[in-house]
Amino acid sequence: MSFNVGISGATGVTGEVALRILEARNFPVRQLRLFASKRSAGQTLRWRESDYQIEALEEAAFDGLDLIISATSASIARSIVPKMVAAGAIVIDQSSAFRLDSGVPLVVPEINGVDLQSHNGIIAGPNCTTAVAVMAIAPLHEAFEAQNIVSSSYQAMSGKGREGMKEFLAASQAALGQSEGLRGHETLNLPDPVQFPHYSAFNLFPHCEQFETGSDMSTEEAKMEAEMRKMLHAPNLMVHATAVRVPVLVGHTVSLSAGFKQPVSPSQARQVLQAFPGLSVLDEPQAGIYPTPLAASGIDEVLVGRIRTVPFFKNGLSLVASGDNLRKGNALNAIQVAEQVLGIKQN
Ligand SMILES: NC(=O)c1ccc[n+]([C@@H]2O[C@H](COP(=O)([O-])OP(=O)(O)OC[C@H]3O[C@@H](n4cnc5c(N)ncnc54)[C@H](OP(=O)(O)O)[C@@H]3O)[C@@H](O)[C@H]2O)c1
Repeated sequence: MSFNVGISGATGVTGEVALRILEARNFPVRQLRLFASKRSAGQTLRWRESDYQIEALEEAAFDGLDLIISATSASIARSIVPKMVAAGAIVIDQSSAFRLDSGVPLVVPEINGVDLQSHNGIIAGPNCTTAVAVMAIAPLHEAFEAQNIVSSSYQAMSGKGREGMKEFLAASQAALGQSEGLRGHETLNLPDPVQFPHYSAFNLFPHCEQFETGSDMSTEEAKMEAEMRKMLHAPNLMVHATAVRVPVLVGHTVSLSAGFKQPVSPSQARQVLQAFPGLSVLDEPQAGIYPTPLAASGIDEVLVGRIRTVPFFKNGLSLVASGDNLRKGNALNAIQVAEQVLGIKQN
């Protein structure tokens, strides 16, 4: 059996990686349609040795599509996804538009695939950092019941999409010749940041997305807290998140410290994590073996390591996880959801 598949936001980083993964997993595509803004309409993208013309999203009709992976901004998704569902497609939306809606499952298949049993046509994928964090915490929550979690994430520039990647790479190139400026001895001469609140090269800032008036929490941090509770079916779980943008192109890293209801030792935790699909435990710190974003880039597994006791949390444990924000944090997870919903078996 094969399916008519659409990708909305096909020219973005999510779209690009989704196309790669559909091909690599030999997803049974009968017809492929690609959508982006009017700026890209008429251009072509190559997939499986054929060229596909991009259609303007806002002028498109979606009849006949079985599945659409939607990877645009939340505001575009809010207006267009209901039209896709009305035309009969199942939509897996990667934006934040519907994630917390009560009728919309928010799913990482290894964790809460059971939530896919009921949906109204829209299924949401989690925020990229939440996806990495929840992969590491969910098996421990299942075994030892997490009570409270403190999360610090070190988020790659590609979390800000194609334009964010471009700005970071251009700023890095411009900064390379300015070692005195980078040391604070001279004025740095870099293009003004547009995608980020500060210079992105050789820098980091505890500021991903926006701080809304009256809140000391960024929207990115709020998402991590609420989405983690929803996916773990743990509405009372206490989560405190800090999100930091770091000068890494791809791969989000999260440091998690949690207190559990049941006692848990690092070796018990390692065993549970090793047995969980989609995780790879790298935990020999003396040998320099632990998760890094570069090692996590381009692979499907989330890497977990630095597993140790936190003595001042009740049954406390901490760990570090790195995952590809464009794969498990995004397009791969969407395609795994699609496979489960459409009953496609992976070889
Ligand atoms: N990047 C990540 O790590 C990540 C992870 C998880 C979830 N997400 C979410 O996934 C979504 C896509 O993110 P991304 O990083 O792939 O973004 P991106 O690289 O900036 O791509 C955005 C896409 O949206 C299209 N678009 C922009 N304005 C449009 C308009 N007015 N009408 C129709 N299409 C329009 C763009 O088309 P043009 O090329 O024609 O402008 C492009 O295809 C966002 O909601 C993001 O929050 C991202």
